[in-house]
Amino acid sequence: MKTLQVLSVLLLTAAAVNGQSYHIGSCPKSELQENFNIMQYMGTWYEIEKLPAIFEKGRCNQATYTLLPDGTVGVHNEELLSDGTIGSIEGVARVKDPSQPAILGVSFFKGVPDAPYKVISTDYQSYALVYSCKDFFGLFYIDFAWILARTRALTDDIISQLHDKISAAGVDVNRLTVTNQTVCDGYNQ
Ligand SMILES: *[C@@H]1O[C@H](CO)[C@@H](O)[C@H](O)[C@H]1NC(C)=O
Repeated sequence: MKTLQVLSVLLLTAAAVNGQSYHIGSCPKSELQENFNIMQYMGTWYEIEKLPAIFEKGRCNQATYTLLPDGTVGVHNEELLSDGTIGSIEGVARVKDPSQPAILGVSFFKGVPDAPYKVISTDYQSYALVYSCKDFFGLFYIDFAWILARTRALTDDIISQLHDKISAAGVDVNRLTVTNQTVCDGYNQ
């Protein structure tokens, strides 16, 4: 309970700071990728757009997923910081309910409750749309979303299709910010 309280205070503070990810009510129902195949989802994904998250400040953001021998997924997030250094964080993701393979729980810190990671849509080879939402006591919720791609850019056509999908999940697409994926050369390709 303590941890949850600390986490909710942190998240509330975060929400107050960026003023955008906090909503009254409970998490909207979102679609999930049917027959999600986690094997095909492994590898590197570049962040194209996101709902602002205070824990990501850099550019050239990317995530690399690796299937571990025990069936969980190693998560390695990296970004290029303004001082030119690379910020990275390691986590673990797992499918919690095999009947819902497109819903993973991701945890970056031991002892902190994991965060939901829902794959709304992916073709595995070019794009992925991910949504994360956490309810607090049924009173409010905080959400995050990411448009990911296998390359550092996506066509406007695909982005617009993904915007439609994320709107259907109750997210205001005007809240999405574009991640700077230019001048990333020399940084971990
Ligand atoms: C992206 O980052 C590069 C390198 O810092 C910068 O030159 C460029 O102006 C940025 N682009 C945008 C749209 O902010």
